[in-house]
Amino acid sequence: MPATWKFQSAGSLIFGPGASEQLAAQAELLGASRLWLIADQNLAQAGIVERVLAPLKQTSHRVESFLDGEPEPSIATAEACIKKARAFAPDAVVGLGGGSNLDLAKIVALVLAQGGTLRDYLGDCRVPGPTLPSISLPTTAGTGSEVSCAAVLTDTENHIKVSTLSPHLRPEVALVDPLLTVSCPPKVTADSGIDALTHAIEAYLAVDNEKFSVSPDEKTVYQGRNPLGNLFAERAIALVAEHLPTAFEEPENHAAREGMALAATLGGLAFSNVGVGLVHAMEYPVGGAVHCSHGAGNGLLLPFVMRFLAESRQAALAEIAKLMQVITTESSEAEAAESGIRAVEELRARIGIPEKLSDLGVTSEQLPGFAEKAFAIKRLMRMSPRPVVRQDILNIYEAAL
Ligand SMILES: NC(=O)c1ccc[n+]([C@@H]2O[C@H](COP(=O)([O-])OP(=O)(O)OC[C@H]3O[C@@H](n4cnc5c(N)ncnc54)[C@H](O)[C@@H]3O)[C@@H](O)[C@H]2O)c1
Ligand SMILES: [Zn+2]
Repeated sequence: MPATWKFQSAGSLIFGPGASEQLAAQAELLGASRLWLIADQNLAQAGIVERVLAPLKQTSHRVESFLDGEPEPSIATAEACIKKARAFAPDAVVGLGGGSNLDLAKIVALVLAQGGTLRDYLGDCRVPGPTLPSISLPTTAGTGSEVSCAAVLTDTENHIKVSTLSPHLRPEVALVDPLLTVSCPPKVTADSGIDALTHAIEAYLAVDNEKFSVSPDEKTVYQGRNPLGNLFAERAIALVAEHLPTAFEEPENHAAREGMALAATLGGLAFSNVGVGLVHAMEYPVGGAVHCSHGAGNGLLLPFVMRFLAESRQAALAEIAKLMQVITTESSEAEAAESGIRAVEELRARIGIPEKLSDLGVTSEQLPGFAEKAFAIKRLMRMSPRPVVRQDILNIYEAAL
């Protein structure tokens, strides 16, 4: 059977400065009158919660807010939020924040509609039907959760990130307003920005769609590298190279914020259709153990994984160098590929992402356990264009220590 691929996004994607002002109109279109809003204290203090909700005061919408969102949310926080949301009985869920709050919103919308507990839905394609309508308003430029099919939580008992993936998890509406990201502190800009780059690069280096085989009885949201994924990934990579240093160094620079917001959404469209791979698999045990941000862990690991993939993806790495504008046309493909990896290392250094796992407090004794956990995430391991054994993962961790 010839290989086929499809492409999915949020139901509606509304992008641009001021897009968040359309929240009431979009809720109206969904026929939703009781909105459960998920945000956090930082966003309340930055005035973002007030700003987004103010126009709703003129309408008949009833809104209740959960402001206890947290970075890399735990299963316990998600369960507490579900309990409170159930008591309110919303007809739509609004996620306002970085990927952490957007993911919480998706999980709440899921469990309220489908019943049971969130643990019933962890894994790939285990969601049996639609969630409550969800509206996503990202306030970081990074995760692409506003268009993606994933939601990620932290399993604090087992020290690992866990996720649920399903086409049903793509929000009904994504309101991507770059102005909401202007108040991000530099570390949040850096960490989330390099996560967007990681999404785009992992999608761009993934196994080809034609070679990505899954047994007929297995369902998966990822499909491997395909032309539309490449298109979004390429643009996202170029936008990150152009705008992330400025967004980091000049937080008030609106053009840079807008460039990064677009990069993050395009990265989300690329990875959530194509797939992410070794970097994400390897970040999950690291983040679960040392509680670094998802973006910092990914950014640290990204160049090490790019080097591991160089023999399988030289042409794509050379293309990355061009997209990041770091090579001259005279370079050989191998030199250009190395320049692409170095460009990521230089960007990482410029925005203060740690370069070694030991900088995060990881010790060599932890690495075999990390390799075991990362290698067990088969849905991510099989996205690698180069065959991988557990020792390879350990070698990459050791190089990164
Ligand atoms: N669902 C997906 O497709 C997907 C993809 C990648 C990552 N993730 C997950 O997303 C989470 C990371 O999300 P993130 O990188 O966006 O960071 P985050 O949501 O964890 O936010 C980081 C911190 O920044 C603060 N913050 C966010 N926006 C702000 C603003 N505009 N002004 C001031 N402070 C602000 C938050 O309050 C928080 O303390 C992780 O749990 C990760 O696993 C999900
Ligand atoms: Zn990510």
